[in-house]
Amino acid sequence: MRKLRIGMIGIGVGGAEILPAMDAMECVDLVAGADVAQTTLDRFKGRYPRAKTYLSAQDLCDDKNVEAVWISSPNRFHAPHAIMAANAGKHVVVEKPMAISLAEAAAMVEAAEKNRVHLLAGHTRAFIRPIRVMRKIIASGRFGGLRALNIWSYSDWMLRPRTADELDVNQGGGVPYRQGPHQIDTVRLLGGGMLRSVRAQTGDWMKERPIPGYYSAFMEFESGLPATIVHNGYGYFIGGELVPWGEDKQVYTARQRADIRAALRAGTRDETAEKQQIRIGGSREKEYFAGNAQAVWTPEDMGFAVASLDSADLRQSKCGIYVHSDQGKQDVEIERGDETGVVQRRAELEELYDAVVNGKPLWHDGRWGMATLEVCLAMMQSARERREIMLSHQTAMHPDYDSDLPMPGV
Ligand SMILES: NC(=O)c1ccc[n+]([C@@H]2O[C@H](COP(=O)([O-])OP(=O)(O)OC[C@H]3O[C@@H](n4cnc5c(N)ncnc54)[C@H](O)[C@@H]3O)[C@@H](O)[C@H]2O)c1
Repeated sequence: MRKLRIGMIGIGVGGAEILPAMDAMECVDLVAGADVAQTTLDRFKGRYPRAKTYLSAQDLCDDKNVEAVWISSPNRFHAPHAIMAANAGKHVVVEKPMAISLAEAAAMVEAAEKNRVHLLAGHTRAFIRPIRVMRKIIASGRFGGLRALNIWSYSDWMLRPRTADELDVNQGGGVPYRQGPHQIDTVRLLGGGMLRSVRAQTGDWMKERPIPGYYSAFMEFESGLPATIVHNGYGYFIGGELVPWGEDKQVYTARQRADIRAALRAGTRDETAEKQQIRIGGSREKEYFAGNAQAVWTPEDMGFAVASLDSADLRQSKCGIYVHSDQGKQDVEIERGDETGVVQRRAELEELYDAVVNGKPLWHDGRWGMATLEVCLAMMQSARERREIMLSHQTAMHPDYDSDLPMPGV
């Protein structure tokens, strides 16, 4: 099998999260890693002895053996690193948020087009199989038209260890930039892509964490379809508690979350050390990602999504999709194993592989990512200006996307 040779820039928590997917994919060869932290490079080399390591992103981009680059460096580097990689002739997958500003995103799109490389805006939950199956059911028309989308999340995002840049909204810190893309990408995928406007409020409720930890947004599609998204990252109530199998699948217990808040208030938390523990080779890496690797769904960071149609509601079940219709409640199981847990995040890489190796279209291209970023930015602008923001960079998802994904028997 033809292998796609990938290099990773920024081997942090987000980078580590995709490694199991890369390990599981025969068609991917992780041949290089770049990070400014030597310890991280040493740990990466320990796990991937054949891979080259670089202290600079430019050196990785100059490596002739690298065909595509996975960018999981801090948000402020997404644009410069993506442009650097594109100018070196590499295909790019960029972590969410795609960039910090629309000007940056436009420059990324331009660099990819100029250099004739693929730019994929990836690693959002919209890529997971259950969401794509939901889209399939919606698009089939089996239950009439789509009437409303609602996605609500209650997470402990604000309590996880953070670096200084993550606590600065100007560098892409906070829940709207970091968690918005999961829900926005999902809403756009299920609703077809073309949002018209957004009205939102953000909340900055914890003085030890001077970034927004909350948002609620009402969005309207060009078609008139309404959607709401909510994310509360302060971690008092956790969405996982809504399902009986979710209680013990959280990173922190309620007691630990209270202790973290107390340490933050007292200024006694060593976040640098704590974050290092969950990066590659750290003492808590496996434990931290255990929840992600599980083969069952819980309303973790993306929350729970409900799509309402004329004659059905669709939402995620433990291992698939519940279809609540006039026939009752059907649980459509989705294959376990490779398709669930963290490994399902291979979808971005499969899409890139198909585009590079098999000449298929790239569905989540730079313009798709830019449209999602536009909504993130509009949420924050709407909150500041207390008004509805009209959108102008939206793109539709092509109807052929996932045409080879089987339609479930519903
Ligand atoms: N999609 C997801 O589920 C998910 C999860 C976590 C993080 N992320 C994304 O990953 C990105 C990084 O966040 P994180 O939590 O992993 O932070 P992190 O600090 O753990 O990771 C960033 C890494 O980049 C390295 N780095 C910093 N500057 C660099 C440079 N100039 N060149 C090369 N490497 C550099 C750091 O040393 C660090 O190892 C963010 O964009 C975040 O949104 C995505």
